Amino acid sequence: MTLSKQAQPSLTSRPQWQALAEHYQAIGGKHLRELFAADPQRGQQLTLEAEGLYLDYSKNRITAQTIDLLVDLANACQLPDRIDAMFAGEKINITEDRAVLHTALRAPRDANVQVDGANVIPDVHAVLDKMSSFCTRVRSGKWLGQTGKPIRNIVNIGIGGSDLGPVMAYEALRHFSDRNLTMRFVSNVDATDFVEATADLDPEVTLFIVASKTFTTMETMTNADTARQWLLSGVGGERAAIAKHFVALSTNAEKVTEFGIDTQNMFEFWDWVGGRYSMESAIGLSTMLAIGPEAFQDMLAGFHSIDEHFRSAPLAQNLPCLMGLLSIWYANFFDVETVAVLPYDQYLKRFPAYLQQLTMESNGKYVTVEGNQVDYATGMIYWGEPGTNGQHSFYQLIHQGTRLIPCDFIAFGRSLNPLGEHQDILIANVLAQSEALAFGKTAEEVAADGTPAWLVPHRVFQGNRPSNTLLAQQMSPHVLGQLVALYEHSVFVQSVIWNIDAFDQWGVELGKVLAKRIIPELSSTHTAKLQHDSSTNELIRRYRALK
Ligand code: F6P
Repeated sequence: MTLSKQAQPSLTSRPQWQALAEHYQAIGGKHLRELFAADPQRGQQLTLEAEGLYLDYSKNRITAQTIDLLVDLANACQLPDRIDAMFAGEKINITEDRAVLHTALRAPRDANVQVDGANVIPDVHAVLDKMSSFCTRVRSGKWLGQTGKPIRNIVNIGIGGSDLGPVMAYEALRHFSDRNLTMRFVSNVDATDFVEATADLDPEVTLFIVASKTFTTMETMTNADTARQWLLSGVGGERAAIAKHFVALSTNAEKVTEFGIDTQNMFEFWDWVGGRYSMESAIGLSTMLAIGPEAFQDMLAGFHSIDEHFRSAPLAQNLPCLMGLLSIWYANFFDVETVAVLPYDQYLKRFPAYLQQLTMESNGKYVTVEGNQVDYATGMIYWGEPGTNGQHSFYQLIHQGTRLIPCDFIAFGRSLNPLGEHQDILIANVLAQSEALAFGKTAEEVAADGTPAWLVPHRVFQGNRPSNTLLAQQMSPHVLGQLVALYEHSVFVQSVIWNIDAFDQWGVELGKVLAKRIIPELSSTHTAKLQHDSSTNELIRRYRALK
């Protein structure tokens, strides 16, 4: 029996949980104004710097004691052992009986990580080497399409973890990308996605990457079939063209071969890599094509630096651990439901969307690893947009709405595009937002501005709205790897406290099965009686009439 299968005492009956509940009664109502006034050093003390990242967590509704109590809870939940178990390749994904080793994907060549008695690192590096030589050939124009022209367009077809990571990384690292290559991403089974992504592309110079861990995902296989037809009709119909215009990223060699892609053109990964934890595996081929093998290595090194920090730093000085524990504090004691992730860097515009899968597919679970229904909230809703855009849309609710929404602000000292005053203006805004959220503006202050009495309540900012601010020097492949690893491990920390399996995703299965059943029923030639509920039956009939 693995560590994770051992029965855990109920979370809410742990004395450490009770201590936090009492502590919440004592300090939960305190205003950040009070907490800052009581400790002039708070803004320096409740901070943490590691691996070039600086986390200011002082604007959270906590005291130093809160951290101690959260760390006590983490210890009671055996977080250090669970971290070791993950890094050691224990099968902590218990419902799928799999190891969880995204950390092995970014481990150095001389590392030794055992799964089922074998070191997986040589395989990891063999795939990385194969990816590097392929990318070098494509980027240098040596990889030729069917008609002898070098590849100039890359279309990644995938969905979920086989899309969100690649899209996010491409956008995040665009500054470092080869501008001679056009990168496109197709995920949705809505044909519009494929049509718009390829409308202006020349098939002769287009390479499709079919990215799918299982190589059975309906959306991806439908888009891949369409891509094959589009390509073959564009280059003269010879099936030999597939070898020059299609590569596969998958764990399923059999299905890849069935599709018609030579396994020589397949970049492998393994069942111990979860889809949402796979952007630095072969699934990152589009990223490597865009930024090149060296920059990809920098990204892996960034991931690895946070992995090492996570596995070795004491819990109270451990960035992902602190972030994860603060989420527990809000989710379970303040009944907070959502977290906003607000990067003040346009390159990170897809980062919140990426985090949605990472956080919610991981921790959207209502049973413990033992299969018991939890009696506490789990997985919060993550969402966000880059600043300053969000300020002009939904920040109103964060400032003056009735809900408490902790925010993660992410900002950089230097812009990759230093232009005039832009960066100072950008950063002034992020600092202003966390200041306004924390301290607000009292009725007295509003009135003192000469505001008429009737307008005062509308212009009061209650404040006491918590945030983290994460600062790094400049956006880079290295920093991107660090940011992703930070959230991956924070998600893991939360799952350990909640005693849930963060690495399965059974909740996506039912809809897939039902959709397969409905597809033939949508055809007007389908004669069998519809046997769904009355609503679904009627919607099917309406759709048939509309089509
Ligand atoms: O439906 C959810 C999911 O299984 C995700 O976990 C995964 O990232 C995505 O589908 C795509 O799966 P695949 O890479 O096997 O096509």
